[in-house]
Amino acid sequence: MAPRRLVAGNWKMNGDLAALDQIEGIADAADGARCEVLVCPPALLVHQMVARAAGRIRVGAQDCHGNMSGAHTGDVSAQQLRDAGATHVIVGHSERRADHGETDAVVQAKAAAAHATGLVAIICLGETEEQRDAGRTLEVIASQLAGSVPEGATAANTVIAYEPIWAIGTGRVPDAAQIAEVHQKLRSDLAARLSDGGHVTLLYGGSVKAGNAAEIFAIPNVDGALVGGASLKAADFVPIITAIS
Ligand code: PGA
Repeated sequence: MAPRRLVAGNWKMNGDLAALDQIEGIADAADGARCEVLVCPPALLVHQMVARAAGRIRVGAQDCHGNMSGAHTGDVSAQQLRDAGATHVIVGHSERRADHGETDAVVQAKAAAAHATGLVAIICLGETEEQRDAGRTLEVIASQLAGSVPEGATAANTVIAYEPIWAIGTGRVPDAAQIAEVHQKLRSDLAARLSDGGHVTLLYGGSVKAGNAAEIFAIPNVDGALVGGASLKAADFVPIITAIS
């Protein structure tokens, strides 16, 4: 079984009720796509996006708490996201790691909470430019992977997204050999750790656009993409969905 292919949009802190009008165009492309299509809007919009998507695309969230419920003002639980109709949740995005001081241990607890409720956890990792320049990329990636993937992870409940921090929102993308090297490392570390690690979906994220998607999808061990800015409008996102073969 080859890894499932997935093109996922991360709307970040963008979008409102009017933005849900983008969903029809995305769902039209998803109907004929050779991949699963997922959009992760702000948590507030998940429920209404699920209704608009009518099962034609998957809807996910961008974060969840590591606990199931309790006194955590302002947080959202994996169970609540599941209840609203989400199927996936992104955890450990570099913006959460930076803005909210999330460590690998915190990310691991969030992924475990996602699994416990039946959500697929999309676990993000990636190096800074400084780490890459110092030749530490593979070491950083391996350590984030080891620390962020919880016990009980499988190819069915876990997706890994490699997002070099210096490529997010910058228009800069690593070259094909650099992406291939990291994805090969992720694949071999996952295969060593999980019995079905060879089947885990591995996404690349960071400045994926219509113009570079096909080239990125052709890289070995790249099973799809996590797309930020270019997922906000159907006109930008659809060509990325259709670029996957
Ligand atoms: P970008 O963001 O596509 O806007 O670079 C990707 C991400 O942060 O998930």
